[in-house]
Amino acid sequence: MSFRSKLLSTTVLPIVVGVGVSMVAMNVNPPAQAASSFQVAQANPCNPCAAANPCNPCAANPCAPSAAVELTDSEAKDAYSCIKGSLRAGYAKSNLASGTGLKIAQDYQDWTRYSTRSYVSATHGGRFVQNYANSTAKAYGKYEDVGRLPAGSVVAKDSFAVRAGRVSAGPLFVMEKMPAGFNADSINWRYTLVMPDGKVIGTTNGKGSKNVEFCYGCHAAIAGEQSDSLFFLPEEYRVKF
Ligand code: HEC
Repeated sequence: MSFRSKLLSTTVLPIVVGVGVSMVAMNVNPPAQAASSFQVAQANPCNPCAAANPCNPCAANPCAPSAAVELTDSEAKDAYSCIKGSLRAGYAKSNLASGTGLKIAQDYQDWTRYSTRSYVSATHGGRFVQNYANSTAKAYGKYEDVGRLPAGSVVAKDSFAVRAGRVSAGPLFVMEKMPAGFNADSINWRYTLVMPDGKVIGTTNGKGSKNVEFCYGCHAAIAGEQSDSLFFLPEEYRVKF
């Protein structure tokens, strides 16, 4: 099994989230990552799960394993249809636009959706997420055969949490492919984290850039060149083309 598929497998993900592991260390130390990277994570200032980290993407502690809520297909769809309008309205306050002028926060829900329903993403705060991509990024639908997405590609992942039977808005996670030379460490992806009220926590090479370094600490370090920093989504929730 490749390291990337291990990351995606349910056996490894809870460990990843549980220990607030350093993603870079994981890449350096496969395959015995769990034990060794635990120590590294303790000392790693970039640990996204550290309590003092300003990029806390989600909740009091985004990396605390959230209570394992399971939703049936219809529950997940109902929850999403009740919250999707307010998600969009909240994110839209950021006015987040792409380098090519697309209104990402306002328009992403009109793009192609690649998930059949909201599914739990342990690496994004244990929230229910959906993945959308703009037309430039249409090769995203080839999944592992994606090759390289062209500059101007945007992938957006919205999120909500379910706790004690209540659905609440979560952040918007955005990856935008920029022209070559933008940022070698992020493999030219611009990562942006938008809170449900539209506050932008960080954007690569822009305001709060440091706050989103942990994004490519995982995406670039683990998925990397092999699949253009993309992880896609669990098989069972993929829209098939
Ligand atoms: C610990 C690793 C990890 C970190 C940190 C992480 N991601 Fe992800 N990301 C993943 C995985 C795994 C997937 C695919 C599976 C899923 O949705 O859970 C993914 C999927 C995505 C996608 C959909 C595109 C794709 O790769 O298929 C976007 C957009 C995204 N992440 C943005 C972000 C942003 C923005 C941040 C930082 C705020 C971030 N991610 C932090 C692991 C990570």
